[in-house]
Amino acid sequence: MATICLSLSSVAASFTGSAMSSRLQHSRVVSARAAGVAQMGLDLNLKGKVAFVAGVGDSSGYGWAICKALAAAGATVTVGTWPPVLGIFKKSLESGKFDEDAILPDGSVMKIEGIYPLDAVFDEPGDVPEDVKNNKRYAGLEGFTISEVAAKVAADYGKIDILVHSLANGPEVTRPLLETSRRGYLAASSASAYSMVSLVQKFGPIMNYGGSVLSLTYIASEMVIPGYGGGMSSAKAQLESDTRTLAWEAGQKYGVRVNTISAGPLKSRAASAISKGKDKSFIEVAIDYCHDNAPLTRDLTSDDVGSTGAFLLSPMSAAVTGVTLYVDNGMHAMGMVQNKAIAQCYD
Ligand SMILES: NC(=O)c1ccc[n+]([C@@H]2O[C@H](COP(=O)([O-])OP(=O)(O)OC[C@H]3O[C@@H](n4cnc5c(N)ncnc54)[C@H](O)[C@@H]3O)[C@@H](O)[C@H]2O)c1
Repeated sequence: MATICLSLSSVAASFTGSAMSSRLQHSRVVSARAAGVAQMGLDLNLKGKVAFVAGVGDSSGYGWAICKALAAAGATVTVGTWPPVLGIFKKSLESGKFDEDAILPDGSVMKIEGIYPLDAVFDEPGDVPEDVKNNKRYAGLEGFTISEVAAKVAADYGKIDILVHSLANGPEVTRPLLETSRRGYLAASSASAYSMVSLVQKFGPIMNYGGSVLSLTYIASEMVIPGYGGGMSSAKAQLESDTRTLAWEAGQKYGVRVNTISAGPLKSRAASAISKGKDKSFIEVAIDYCHDNAPLTRDLTSDDVGSTGAFLLSPMSAAVTGVTLYVDNGMHAMGMVQNKAIAQCYD
């Protein structure tokens, strides 16, 4: 957790020399200080920062990896877990099932300071229908809507600095868009895109100025990925568009940044449920395809997304907002990918 801080004026001076540019530097330094903007620094030290990561239910997904990276940088990590998986998640944590996956680079073990039941398709208590209230998977749980969880987190920690949306759900994800019902399409959008809008709405007021919000998206938002159906591609397109609008609105209102990572394929629990396939599941095909065709042939790990996430959630990226950042070994950059087609371009 080394912290290297460089003063803005000394850095600017090393780039410029003239009297005019030095006046410019001076005015910029003064205005940056006057605005209370942090001085330029390479600072991945998140000690004293509080994070809430929505969508952590086991150790296989991107949310867990982001928690680990934040914990490694010193942040206090809390999570929001979907009620149907809450019991098994807590049991697995208690039994030590995730211990190995929780080891941080310095050998210590990540501690999750708070686990809040969260169902991100509900904003207020009045939104929860009777069948959900009476569902045994929600038995004994209260206060799992987004506004209630924000209130609980505020009661426990006061203001927070970091908010992560690492969740998605599309009940008809295995169906092509052409066969998706209105209900399935809107459910995907509600759970996977509006949930982000609602999280920023409800947590924005309890975030410190200078805080950062991050979500996870997928390239099916902008290019055709057969098999990623049920309106999930549409929901990811919404999520990316909303990232830009929320960056503007929440930036103006709360001084927080909003970004999204377009992540390459990972065999998480959610991704494994997309489709089983005859020989290989959707996610296995996607992983192999990227491995064979991306500019970088290294395996993509959840920690790749974790560390880029920590960067976007730290003051190191203080001027980055409204961005969709690819963490996919460069796969997004490829136009012609079939080995057969590429082979024809070479003698
Ligand atoms: N795995 C991939 O290949 C991949 C690629 C790009 C983007 N992503 C995105 O990364 C994010 C995390 O997914 P993951 O693949 O790491 O899987 P994951 O299973 O770790 O995470 C998804 C989480 O969403 C939770 N969830 C579902 N419905 C919910 C609801 N209504 N309220 C609260 N939580 C709910 C699940 O319980 C689960 O914990 C998602 O947004 C996903 O679309 C994943």
